[in-house]
Amino acid sequence: MITIRRAKPADAAEIAAVHITAWRSAYPGILPADYLAGLSFSSHAAQYESAIRDGVAVHVAVWGSPGRIVGFASAVRSRRRALAEGEIETLYVLDDFRDKGAGRQLLAASAGFLTTLTCRSAFAWVLRENQARWFYERMGAKLVAEETLRFAGVDLMQCAYLWPDLTVLRPQARA
Ligand SMILES: CC(C)(COP(=O)(O)OP(=O)(O)OC[C@H]1O[C@@H](n2cnc3c(N)ncnc32)[C@H](O)[C@@H]1OP(=O)(O)O)[C@@H](O)C(=O)NCCC(=O)NCCS
Repeated sequence: MITIRRAKPADAAEIAAVHITAWRSAYPGILPADYLAGLSFSSHAAQYESAIRDGVAVHVAVWGSPGRIVGFASAVRSRRRALAEGEIETLYVLDDFRDKGAGRQLLAASAGFLTTLTCRSAFAWVLRENQARWFYERMGAKLVAEETLRFAGVDLMQCAYLWPDLTVLRPQARA
């Protein structure tokens, strides 16, 4: 069974491991192979530990007992207020734990957190070539913007998916 809880600083190493594993699974052919190979576990762990200590709302999906972190999401006030009030900054689930509802539950927890910040809307950036964009559509988000992003030495197209009303992500709102 998967449960969702707010992350603690001590979770940072496991979160970094999920981050890097998910990137290496989702982004071959999209991001350069040498960039993916060079992702640093220690620097990601340090970044997540510092973000959690600073109060960034990271939620983790935990499988089994005593519990292994198999996915996570983070949410912040929007860095692009013209798009929405809140932003889903990250959302990653390990391949072996997909299609079990973890992504939906992490999104709901992130939306709940944004609501406590009085955000009524939220968006997420998704690379256009990432299959995950269809997940966001399934979760009720609408494509509202596309723009070019220079990242890891390549030009990428990223899509902004918007939830104009975050209440659609409440657990009881499931279609
Ligand atoms: C996208 C991601 C977070 C989805 O997580 P998940 O735990 O597999 O999703 P869930 O099991 O909660 O799925 C919820 C619903 O979305 C659907 N869904 C999941 N991934 C989908 C996809 N890629 N395309 C279409 N529908 C998808 C599920 O079938 C399910 O449908 P239902 O409403 O009929 O039950 C996960 O696949 C992932 O981490 N992908 C790789 C990393 C990534 O690209 N993250 C996003 C970066 S922007």
